[in-house]
Amino acid sequence: MRLEGKRCIVTGGASGIGEATVRRFVEEGAEVLIADLNLAGAQALAAELDSAVTAVKCDARQEADVRDVATAALERWENVDVLVNNAGIELSKTYEDTSTDEWAAVIDTNLRGPWLFCKYIVPKMVERGAGSVINVSSLNGLVGFPLSTAYGSAKGGLVVFTRDMAIELGPTGVRVNCVCPGVIATPMMERWTQSMPDQAEAQEMLRGTMPIGRLGQASEVASAILFFASDDSTLCQGSVLSVDGGFTAQ
Ligand SMILES: NC(=O)c1ccc[n+]([C@@H]2O[C@H](COP(=O)([O-])OP(=O)(O)OC[C@H]3O[C@@H](n4cnc5c(N)ncnc54)[C@H](O)[C@@H]3O)[C@@H](O)[C@H]2O)c1
Repeated sequence: MRLEGKRCIVTGGASGIGEATVRRFVEEGAEVLIADLNLAGAQALAAELDSAVTAVKCDARQEADVRDVATAALERWENVDVLVNNAGIELSKTYEDTSTDEWAAVIDTNLRGPWLFCKYIVPKMVERGAGSVINVSSLNGLVGFPLSTAYGSAKGGLVVFTRDMAIELGPTGVRVNCVCPGVIATPMMERWTQSMPDQAEAQEMLRGTMPIGRLGQASEVASAILFFASDDSTLCQGSVLSVDGGFTAQ
């Protein structure tokens, strides 16, 4: 029970890595608030798990939504111990084919959203002198790929944002760290594969990128997020952890 009595917000907790994180956190004794655009999905998970989980509709791109979630969480709990900035969207397009609306949506969801959640949640953590923020970036934030300028810029920005927050918060007792998953079998990855003309070839290509010879599971990323959320990682500040089956070791 590494999160016994801890109050945690997981953005994008209705699906994939976020869902696995919610499940793992509840197993470890946490109370969790899922903030997700997909309210029905978040509510279904909350109903399945138990009263330890609450679901709220939130668009991480919208400042008013984020402020409302923060206000509701702080009114209910007085403090938030753990914030997982996981909500994200993917885009596979050349820099030239990416529209300005697509660029804005990807940057706003994957980078501005985590900053907004920090803006409204972290000051209370600082007041208490304790808290852990975990940002979910990607291997796309560490190395270059084709068709990845918007997504990679957002995820690379999130890595630097993590480090800058860690330095700014240095001695406050609030820690900010980041995980960079490789190719993980989630609905996001499923949608990407389905958008490819040859799905079998796309799946083979994805497997081939992973030196361990298989895709990662969402639960394996959740384990890394749990590490940063728990007191097992008290010396980690601004850490960027690859959880990618060896991809960035190549
Ligand atoms: N699956 C992978 O291979 C992989 C690899 C590296 C990084 N990631 C990152 O992990 C995170 C989770 O990805 P996943 O694969 O579980 O995706 P997913 O699509 O399965 O889940 C994403 C969740 O985020 C929610 N969401 C999307 N936009 C939102 C918004 N504006 N406000 C609130 N919620 C929103 C969705 O409703 C969904 O529940 C993302 O940040 C993604 O970029 C995924």
